[in-house]
Amino acid sequence: MEIVNVQDYEAVAKEKLPKMVYDYYASGAEDQWTLKENQRAFQRIRFRPRILVDVSKIDTSSTMLGFKISMPIMIAPTAMQKMAHPDGELATARAASAAGTIMTLSSWATSSVEEISSTGPGIRFFQLYVIKDRHVVAQLVRRAENAGFKAIALTVDTPRLGRREADIRNRFVLPPHLTLRNFEGLDLGKMEKTEDSGLASYVANQIDRSLSWKDIKWLQTITHLPILVKGVLTAEDTRLAVQSGVAGIIVSNHGARQLDYVPATISCLEEVVNAAQGQVPVFLDGGVRRGTDIFKALALGASGVFIGRPVVFALAAEGEAGVKKVLQMLRDEFELTMSLAGCCSVKDINRNYIQTEADMFKAWARL
Ligand code: FNR
Ligand code: LAC
Repeated sequence: MEIVNVQDYEAVAKEKLPKMVYDYYASGAEDQWTLKENQRAFQRIRFRPRILVDVSKIDTSSTMLGFKISMPIMIAPTAMQKMAHPDGELATARAASAAGTIMTLSSWATSSVEEISSTGPGIRFFQLYVIKDRHVVAQLVRRAENAGFKAIALTVDTPRLGRREADIRNRFVLPPHLTLRNFEGLDLGKMEKTEDSGLASYVANQIDRSLSWKDIKWLQTITHLPILVKGVLTAEDTRLAVQSGVAGIIVSNHGARQLDYVPATISCLEEVVNAAQGQVPVFLDGGVRRGTDIFKALALGASGVFIGRPVVFALAAEGEAGVKKVLQMLRDEFELTMSLAGCCSVKDINRNYIQTEADMFKAWARL
């Protein structure tokens, strides 16, 4: 099949990948309500485009924590990418650099921070899971710093793994020829097969469930890198995050893989942006599949978006070339959306260019 949009890669990946791997990548938690809602909620937002604006030159470039990027589209951390393609995270890192954007490497990657840095120059962030052994965490953060990673994305929505029923049925486990390379040589490097999801058991054994706001302070004592909190969905937590001195907030529901029946991230965005009061930038991930989605997120106040599944599916289908193509397709669609909406640069995008359901209800209430 000819690939003409990001979603097209999923069917190719499904055909190519072992069922256990495809299901792991694709799944959400429990009823997968939030999984569908992440995309549906984007579809409920409409445009209010402006006409007769000179759109002969469109600039999609943006900044992330002071770094210049070619577009406000970045790569979210997704674990175990070598199950998708032998080049795994290395291919993703190269594709992100070639596209002039940022890749976030998962703690549970099948390539190490050092291997990623050896792929060449590029701006990369490191996603951190805080495990019980804080010495190992501190060491890993130091390694990421030494390998040139520019920020830590601290994932805060995973004290336990959400219940992904396909993984339970498939007895999901990291295939034995692969390791979680950041933990190579430790027990943590491998995953045991269990009568459940092997990953859920791994998380239950390793993750520090006691993680709380005070640990952000602790993290700040072990690293000078800026810290992004990944997994904020409410105004209350936004205010606590700002008070904790984080560099930015990622509105995320973990691709609907953790607590089912949380709203779509795009539905939580405005609340978080308002609570952040411009003190820190707010980013979003979850269900971003179109250039129009990116524009909508920016119009609601996001400084940029991250994509998760599109990368693993493209990786499975075509390796590095696939990830490059995903980034290119999203960039092209985003640029086209900007042209058709009448915005020449990213900073021109604002709330007036869209209409949400809440806006419509308010308009009806006034009638
Ligand atoms: C993830 N996500 C994730 N998040 C994280 O902080 N650390 C991780 O290791 C992973 N691993 C992971 C694996 C897979 C297969 C998926 C699909 C997701 C969540 C990820 O960073 C991001 O929040 C979502 O993927 C965004 O939603 P979309 O773009 O997949 O809809
Ligand atoms: C996941 C973990 C690894 O969502 O973050 O599968």
